[in-house]
Amino acid sequence: MSENLPSHPLLHFPRRRCRSLRLIYEGLNLDIRFEGAAVSYGARQALQPLSLLLAENRIGVIGLNGSGKTTFARLINGLAKPTAGRVLVNGRDTADERGALGDVGFIFQQPQNQIILPIVKDDIAFGLKSRGVPKSEIEARVEAVLTRFGAAHLGSRRAHELSGGELQIAALASVLVTGPDILILDEPTNQLDLKNRVLVQRLIEGLPENAIVITHDLELIAGFGRVLVFHEGALAADAPAAEAIARYREIAG
Ligand SMILES: Nc1ncnc2c1ncn2[C@@H]1O[C@H](COP(=O)(O)OP(=O)(O)OP(=O)(O)O)[C@@H](O)[C@H]1O
Ligand SMILES: [Mg+2]
Repeated sequence: MSENLPSHPLLHFPRRRCRSLRLIYEGLNLDIRFEGAAVSYGARQALQPLSLLLAENRIGVIGLNGSGKTTFARLINGLAKPTAGRVLVNGRDTADERGALGDVGFIFQQPQNQIILPIVKDDIAFGLKSRGVPKSEIEARVEAVLTRFGAAHLGSRRAHELSGGELQIAALASVLVTGPDILILDEPTNQLDLKNRVLVQRLIEGLPENAIVITHDLELIAGFGRVLVFHEGALAADAPAAEAIARYREIAG
């Protein structure tokens, strides 16, 4: 399948500088390529050499603790560098082109690593400021994203005082406000109550962005056409959700 995808010239455009092409671009598939990409930490191999193409709008990632899921995801946004092989996002090598980072929004497994500024709405605004969004637009966009998450009451709160779930919602807002093309969510529901879990599930279902969802919450990815199962740093299954979940259950014993 990977070789049949068109190599579109627009894939190599600096899109942030070329807004008018953005709409055309968004009609194209996600294009993430792992080419023998592996990650070792000293003698420990966190990810064994992996080659695959990710081109689906929704991709689930499941597996036991320590199986390599977060390592896999960090390769996509350049937070981790492959110690062998390479990873290309829309044709750009994530190891040496910082430009690729702008395309990928990453919701961290620990949301406290996400929020940098003390006050929630300042943190959400920060991503917009650094992308050159006019001041006059920023406040309205921050309000809108908080409202979208039913979290307007969190805007003026100190991030370090928030509960785990509140922080997870704030982290989602601070990433989604910038409108990334690809969203990676690393266990986005692990601290959420039932109400917020349903909110996040619906949000994922309705996202226009491409989303890669890493989770132990199997219901969250049950409808996905493609789910990767990692085991001991290697891909143990790459299949529609039902088949992948069955394989995961076998592995988990
Ligand atoms: N910075 C690091 N230094 C050393 N070892 C690491 C580092 N990061 C990850 N590892 C190891 O790599 C392996 C894979 O870790 P990873 O975080 O990718 O697992 P995971 O599948 O996301 O697990 P979990 O479900 O617990 O989040 C683990 O054995 C982990 O201890
Ligand atoms: Mg992880």
